[in-house]
Amino acid sequence: MQIHRYERWWLTFGVAMLIAFLALIGYAAVADNINPPMDMQQIDPAKVSQTPPFDKPGLRKLADGSYEAYYVAEVFSFNPARLTVPLGGKVTFYVTSADVVHGFFIPDTDVNMMAVPGWVNEETHTFKKAGEYLLICHEYCGIDHQDMFAKIEVR
Ligand code: CUA
Repeated sequence: MQIHRYERWWLTFGVAMLIAFLALIGYAAVADNINPPMDMQQIDPAKVSQTPPFDKPGLRKLADGSYEAYYVAEVFSFNPARLTVPLGGKVTFYVTSADVVHGFFIPDTDVNMMAVPGWVNEETHTFKKAGEYLLICHEYCGIDHQDMFAKIEVR
């Protein structure tokens, strides 16, 4: 009788743990899908060209000596198409899309993200090597996707 009671206790305990575990997994999945990333800003994709600072895309120097670069992605180009960055400059890139999802990738840097309509994405890179960098769209976005790129001159 004793053994039988122990078995029942362990069975109940096991089932309770399983339910708790599944509830936790389910909650994590739901939380991941429903909550937008907390560090992302929202923007009206139809009003990007009127929304500061995206109404004037380009490079800005901050008080601490670092830079911010604002980009708008739109079929099939980036604005600005050319950017000059001082050698050694630490640049935080902010990008949004005025239409569909685009890629935002600068080979040989830390910058590899998406330009998503409705959201502002950001990534930072310090340019320690001079030269011309390509900014490319690496997400298929339509017929001229492969021609969607911009240039960044570091000097
Ligand atoms: Cu934009 Cu591919």
